[in-house]
Amino acid sequence: MAKPIFVLNGPNLNLLGKRQPDVYGTATLEDVRKRTESRAQQHGYRIEFRQSNHEGQLVDWIQEAKEAASAIIINAAGYTHTSVALLDALQAAELPVIEVHLSNIFRRDPFRQHSYISLGAHGVICGLGAKGYELAVEALAEIVKSQNA
Ligand code: DQA
Repeated sequence: MAKPIFVLNGPNLNLLGKRQPDVYGTATLEDVRKRTESRAQQHGYRIEFRQSNHEGQLVDWIQEAKEAASAIIINAAGYTHTSVALLDALQAAELPVIEVHLSNIFRRDPFRQHSYISLGAHGVICGLGAKGYELAVEALAEIVKSQNA
């Protein structure tokens, strides 16, 4: 059985649905989880869907993923724009990684237009809301397949 895809969500994403709905939409994180899970099932993957407000917790989960996951989807939220530690962890994991953002970070504040973690990601999807997580599953299923071919 394939190892799961770890789907890691950073700070304040637990507030989805209530938090700035004009920017992030009205779907909750549970809605995002369900959509991601059903898309993963179509490709024969389970997901480990997690959220933390703590940078160190996210680092620990990325380290865990190195052994336990096929690939990583990460929305590091605010830590995207600040965290060398998350980048280091992603690079050390040596797994396919897709960075996801619900909002289009390039249409927002200038400080959101730089991501530390992109250097450790195969691809970046932003601005498509929960759909971005589904597309990330699609992309990772293909990347993992081609790696195992
Ligand atoms: C976000 C974008 C980040 O700039 C922001 O800090 C978030 C969410 C997104 O999903 O659009 O918390 O990652």
